[in-house]
Formats: sequence, C-alpha cells, structure tokens
Amino acid sequence: MNAIEFQNIKKTYGDKTIIGSFSLAIGRGEFVTIIGTSGSGKTTLVKMVNRLVVPDSGTVWINGEDIQDKDPVLLRRGIGYAIQGSVLFPHMTVEENIAYVPNLWNKSDKKRTASAVSKWMKIAGLADELRQQYPYELSGGEQQRVGIARALAASPPILLMDEPFGAVDEITRKQLQKELKDIYEQTGITVLFITHDISEALALGTKVLVLDKGALQQYDTPDNILNHPANAFVAQLVGDRKGSEKNRDCNDDLTAKQRSTLK
Ligand SMILES: Nc1ncnc2c1ncn2[C@@H]1O[C@H](COP(=O)(O)OP(=O)(O)OP(=O)(O)O)[C@@H](O)[C@H]1O
Ligand SMILES: [Mg+2]
Repeated sequence: MNAIEFQNIKKTYGDKTIIGSFSLAIGRGEFVTIIGTSGSGKTTLVKMVNRLVVPDSGTVWINGEDIQDKDPVLLRRGIGYAIQGSVLFPHMTVEENIAYVPNLWNKSDKKRTASAVSKWMKIAGLADELRQQYPYELSGGEQQRVGIARALAASPPILLMDEPFGAVDEITRKQLQKELKDIYEQTGITVLFITHDISEALALGTKVLVLDKGALQQYDTPDNILNHPANAFVAQLVGDRKGSEKNRDCNDDLTAKQRSTLK
C-alpha cells in the first residue's frame, strides 16, 4: 500500500495557480527528497500531508485513507514535522518541547519519556544542560535542533521535513544527515524532506521529487535523476551543482557511481 498518495491536487491563491493537477503515489518506506526552485510549491505540497494546507480540489490519501475524513489532531500525531527556524512552544522548556508528543502517548511512563528525551537530545547534538532552558535562551541553531529532536522523538510513521538543516553548521548538518539516515534505515518510516542542497537530496533520498511551477518534473531514484534527467529543467538543476564546492563536500555520502558522474 502507498504511504502517501496525492491525487489530482490543485491549489490556487487568488488567480495564481500554485499546484496544478498534481498526482503522485509514494510507497511506504521511501525517503523522498524534494527539490525545485524557490516558489515551486514544495512547502505547499508537503503541508497538504498534515492538512496545514487544504487543496482546492483533489485528494490526499495516507495509508489508503482520505485525510479529509480524519481528525486533524489525530492525523498530526502520526506525522512528525520539522521546519527551518523550527517553531517551538515558547512557554515550554527544551525537555518539555521534545517530550510533548511522547507525553501524549506515554503519560504513565515518565521515566521512559525522560530517557527518550536524553536520547534524542544527544542525537540532535544538544548538550544535556540545555534541558531546562526556554527557546528564547537558545541560539537559532539550537532551536532548530530541538525542533528536529521533537519531530523524531515522536517516532512517527511519516516524517515531514522542510529544509530542516538550513540553519545548522556544516559539521552538525553532516551528523544530523547521518543520524536521520540511520533512523530511517532502522525504522522504515516514510520521509518527505525538502532541501535546496542538491547533493543532500541525492545522498539522502531513495527517490527524488523535482518540482517546478507546482508541476512534477521527475520522480525517480537519485541515480536516474543524475544520469537520466527527464527534461532540460532537471538536467540544469542537477547539472548546476556538478563539480561545485558543495558537491565535493557531500561526496562522502554519495555512491561511487554518483561520484564519478559528478566529476
Ligand atoms: N498563504 C499563501 N497565500 C498566498 N500565496 C502563497 C501562500 N503560501 C504560498 N504562496 C505562494 O505559493 C507559491 C509556492 O510557495 P511555497 O512556499 O510552496 O514554495 P517553495 O517551493 O516551498 O519555495 P521556497 O523554496 O522558497 O521555500 C509561492 O509563489 C508563494 O508566494
Ligand atoms: Mg518552502
């Protein structure tokens, strides 16, 4: 069964078409990275999965259920969501922010929740002494890492990430990429991950979705995106990055074949 299916989605704001007749079925356990120019509709599309945006027409299915029929609170409980400049609960400590969803599920088992919080703080590269701090007492990068830890701590079957590593330094970014990949491989969750970094998209994704002007350009393996771009837009998007500094930085994560293509 598909984890997520977009069927004939349309979305307009005023007279501007943002998404036009978009259809895509995403299999369970795929790690889908989403790339495209700014304003191509990536965030709009991803927000339709947790109903932060409702399409004008068309249907979004999760595990074969029309999400329009589901209680949005219950729907969101099964979907992790991390965004750039992560929005934390300002009146809650780091610990309370991360424990928010596990607490909902796990009210009776405080000890388990506390150890889960420690685990996810470590994975996200957060020092334990930040536990009792409030979001306003953290740097932008720390806030972002709390947001990532919070999204992961819920161990959701679906994880939506909208440029989650945008505001962290390169070393932390590499760590988070690796941790996310490990978590993905261990749990078999379905991930939608928006990034502007083509190398990151190629290294992390089992599939890459290329969007332009709210339309699907290609949905394919990283290897096919690189070696068999479906059209000139995809070729240019991927080609622009060939041989760039960023690409060389990320080469560790690429397969030998991808590396040789990039050279
Ligand atoms: N609430 C809104 N009202 C009006 N227009 C909107 C709204 N949300 C998004 N848009 C428009 O929809 C288009 C797509 O926006 P979206 O945020 O999905 O793009 P994106 O691909 O995520 O871009 P970026 O890479 O810059 O984050 C943009 O032109 C944006 O201005
Ligand atoms: Mg966006």
